[in-house]
Amino acid sequence: MTKKKILLTRVFPEVATNLLEQAEFVVTKWDKERPMTQEELIANAQGHDALFCTLTDKIDAQFFGACSTIEMVSQFAVGYDNIAVAEATRLGIPVGFTPDAVSEPTADIAFGLMIVTARKMFYLHKTIEKGEWGYFKPNSDLGLTLKNKTLGIFGLGRIGIETARLCKGAYNMDIIYHNRTPNKQAEEELGATYVDFKTLVSQSDVVSVHCGLTPKTKELFNKEVFNQMKSTAIFINTARGLIHNEIDLIDALQKGTIWGAGLDVTNPEPMQTNNPLLQMKNVCVLPHVGSGTIDARDEMSRMAAVNIIEYYKNKRVPHIVNPEVLNAI
Ligand code: GLV
Repeated sequence: MTKKKILLTRVFPEVATNLLEQAEFVVTKWDKERPMTQEELIANAQGHDALFCTLTDKIDAQFFGACSTIEMVSQFAVGYDNIAVAEATRLGIPVGFTPDAVSEPTADIAFGLMIVTARKMFYLHKTIEKGEWGYFKPNSDLGLTLKNKTLGIFGLGRIGIETARLCKGAYNMDIIYHNRTPNKQAEEELGATYVDFKTLVSQSDVVSVHCGLTPKTKELFNKEVFNQMKSTAIFINTARGLIHNEIDLIDALQKGTIWGAGLDVTNPEPMQTNNPLLQMKNVCVLPHVGSGTIDARDEMSRMAAVNIIEYYKNKRVPHIVNPEVLNAI
């Protein structure tokens, strides 16, 4: 049998290459740190059977049209908004992804951003670098207390529940959430309360976003929503930057409509160095590193490789976005 050819679109943890090669796949690797341009991606994918890709790759209808040998896509990420899943499904192409592995590290980043934002830590660090640490100041640069406050989770899935657990355990926060469907596990374990969207944004001291990017969630957090939030509220986004409108967020922070923001995702990415958010005392920004621990990235690499191996060996994909493709086989 001819060996299946897999294109790895980025420099991924070696776990994936080792597993794929042991399973007798032919692996081609893009060896530069930067993502491929769309032209490079299409040119390099020619003749390959499966794609091992990630959120910086645009796998759209044009890609599928130009790369007709691709019969499987394995995404190294939990989010897959970079992939035209409906088109893949129409073509009978299974799309794998890597949930679970990213939940705890991403929740750590959401929780960490709440603390560093509430206490203005990034700004205060910069004051030391600038030689501005003069003397103890009883009444300046004060932050907010998180203990016993209300956390509003938008999208209580795997990452949302991990974030809620951290906040409940550390600060005894009251958990309210809004989701497509109620999450009974969170209600029993954490005493979480399901609320409508308006209640979520208007009653939370911290609003933390954990949903996927879809046409419904795109720029959902905009001027109108920031206007409904408490003026003491902190907005946290570790999901996708396009879920908030960044111009409206900047405006809300400048006007004091909301108190602060902690972002691991921005719109666009990478954020420009002259973005006003970087100069704000009550804002902490990270460069999309939610899943960025050694353990998590190794596990994502393993899961994405196993999705490919299992597809070719057993016609199953353990973590699949569009299971209807396999049901149809
Ligand atoms: C990261 O953003 C992911 O979707 O895994």
